[in-house]
Amino acid sequence: MKEELNKIKLACVQEIENAREVNGLEEVRVKYLGKKGELTLILRNMGNVSAEERPLIGKMVNETREEIEKELTTKKAKLEEEAILKSLENAKKIDFSIPAEDTLGSLHPITVVQREIEEIFKSMGFTVEEGFEVESEYNNFEAVNVPKYHPARDMQDTFWLENGELLKTHTSAAQNRIMRKYNGPLKAIFPGRCFRNEDLDASHENTFFQLEGMMIDKDISVSNLIYFMKIMLSEVFGKEVNVRLRPGYFPFVEPGFELDASCMYCGGKGCKVCKNSGWIELCPCGLIHPKVLEMGGINPDEYSGFAFGLGLARLAMMKYSITDIRLLNSGDLRFLKPIGLN
Ligand code: DAH
Repeated sequence: MKEELNKIKLACVQEIENAREVNGLEEVRVKYLGKKGELTLILRNMGNVSAEERPLIGKMVNETREEIEKELTTKKAKLEEEAILKSLENAKKIDFSIPAEDTLGSLHPITVVQREIEEIFKSMGFTVEEGFEVESEYNNFEAVNVPKYHPARDMQDTFWLENGELLKTHTSAAQNRIMRKYNGPLKAIFPGRCFRNEDLDASHENTFFQLEGMMIDKDISVSNLIYFMKIMLSEVFGKEVNVRLRPGYFPFVEPGFELDASCMYCGGKGCKVCKNSGWIELCPCGLIHPKVLEMGGINPDEYSGFAFGLGLARLAMMKYSITDIRLLNSGDLRFLKPIGLN
């Protein structure tokens, strides 16, 4: 085991040495220390190690991790310094007499999509509700049927605050408060910023926007859900979009689904974007779990409801054919032009 750890460390240090920019360094960090990283996998496989050896190996893994982290920090500082020196060097070459480019900027693509969806749902009688960014553990987890030690908590790596509250990991955290506000039938959407302790890559951010929707009334069924999603998507993409449901598991809905939309690029015939399947995975949804209704003070024998959780970045990326999620938080205006927003 010691040898194996040493091998990993040497390979990693070599890669750190070879990294030429901070992004590359981040990739090395994820490869070795990330959730599925080589070192993390060793810790996960500790089950196969005998009980006496476990503390020793755990200690060795932690030491290796610390050494790697130290190397990463040192190299990062070095690369950052180099980058600053290089940009100062380039700055000397800037010609300040050239007229400025006409880049006024625009609303953020996510804001554009969010407002569009708000208008669509408002026109169908939905209210737009506020959610909080700092939430209680109860609202974020318990009230949506994710008690302590429920495995579903592992899917949402949470930023905890010192006072025991947290940065909300999903817009579902507002469900309970909204149910208590209306105490009965309601049609509401609630967009908001969510936070998860994720490693960044082309499709993951640690801060992202969701838009959640809920409809509660007598006899609400899956057909209501399909109807509203179909209308919303057809409006956003400006053409008829079909939807289909596949089973999916979320503790706060029963039954739960993954909703796919017919590919808006090829109309369902099959293309590169939909990987020739004709469908694009869009958002999870389902019929609100009776326990969740009950915790919201709504009688599940009298009322039923549907809920869905849309990832706004995903929708904006689809609408504007943006391929890297990191562009959305980059502050780099250049990506607005090709998508027609500037
Ligand atoms: N809250 C879930 C998440 O962020 C998404 C979600 C799934 C919301 C199903 C829903 C739902 O309202 O019905 O992972």
